[in-house]
Order: sequence, then structure tokens, then C-alpha cells
Amino acid sequence: MKIRIVSASTRINRLSHRIALALKEELLQRKFDADIIDLKTLALPPFEERIDRLESPDPRLLELKQELLSTQAFIFLTPEYNGAIASGLKNFMDVFAKEPFMHKPIGVATGSTGAMGGIRAAYQLQQNILTIHGLPHPQMLTVGKMDQVINEEGQIVDEAYAKKQIRFLDLFLDFAQRLV
Ligand SMILES: Cc1cc2nc3c(=O)[nH]c(=O)nc-3n(C[C@H](O)[C@H](O)[C@H](O)COP(=O)(O)O)c2cc1C
Repeated sequence: MKIRIVSASTRINRLSHRIALALKEELLQRKFDADIIDLKTLALPPFEERIDRLESPDPRLLELKQELLSTQAFIFLTPEYNGAIASGLKNFMDVFAKEPFMHKPIGVATGSTGAMGGIRAAYQLQQNILTIHGLPHPQMLTVGKMDQVINEEGQIVDEAYAKKQIRFLDLFLDFAQRLV
């Protein structure tokens, strides 16, 4: 199964991206075709129009659209900013939705340096995913104090978090495999 983790952690000295790195590592260990779509590298401009309606879309974005279309399951990862998802993730959804996400399993992962793990952003993201006709999994991965549980290289350094990630992936992958 082809799985892409969309990382909306784009801040200078970002931390939530570690969640994406750790998820990718475990998915690769489980022999999935897994990779990260890093919105920091992609650096989408502020929203102008949906890709299908642009007169001369950037070939790089057309290539990414093909990559999204061939992806069977996604995990959307966002930090919580001011009680909401990162604007970069909303921008990404607005540019590419809905076709590449239609009826596909999408996992929700959020991060915060606080204790709540970005729960407000997580619930919003579930709603956003429904709006683009994706299928959000009910089990969300909310990661509090993420700088303390995953190191810079994306290695998990906290046993309780290791178990939490395994449980999230067990449930999400079971859901995704039933759908693809
Ligand atoms: C603009 C901004 C808004 C933030 N708002 C929240 C928030 O609503 N809830 C929260 O738990 N943490 C909030 N934080 C703290 C973040 O959890 C922390 O900065 C985290 O590292 C953000 O993820 P990132 O490193 O991937 O950007 C905010 C941080 C920034 C920069």
C-alpha cells in the first residue's frame, strides 16, 4: 500500500516534523511504500485557485497531483497554531482537493509542545477531511510535549509514546487496508 504523510510542520526550527519522521520509519519497517510530502520543501504560494482551474499550473504541482492520485492512504500531520490546523495544510487541501483524496483513508496526526497534543486542530482536521470527501480514521494521533518524546532524527525516545504510535498505526492500517 502506498502511503504518504503530508507534513504541515514548516516553521523555522520545526518540531512536529519529527512525528512524520517517526511514522515514516515505522511504516517502512512494516514494509509499506511510505514517504513524506513535506510542505516546507513544497513551499506552495498563498492560494490563488484550485490546480484544475489554473491556466498554466506549475509542472511541479501537476507532478505532485499525480503522486497524490496514486497514493492509496494519507496521514495528515499538523502542528496546532492558535487552536487550529496550520494554514499551510489548509492551503494544500484547497489547491488539490477533492479528487486525489476522494474516498481514501486519511489519518490525523497533530503535535504540540503543550500537554494537549493539538487536540483542537485534530478535531478540526477530521472535519476538513470529510469536506474534501476523504475518510478520516476515528483514532487520532495527538502528540503532546513532542520535543521530549521524539528526537531530532525522528527516533522515539519515550516508551509510552512508542506504544501510542504502534496503536495508532495498527488501527489506521487495519482501516486503510479494508478500504483499498
Ligand atoms: C503561531 C503559534 C501558535 C501556537 N498555538 C498553539 C496552540 O494553539 N496550542 C498549542 O498547544 N500550542 C501552540 N503553539 C505552540 C506549538 O505547540 C509549538 O510551537 C510547536 O513546536 C509547533 O509545532 P512546529 O514546531 O512543528 O511548528 C503555537 C505556536 C506558534 C508558533
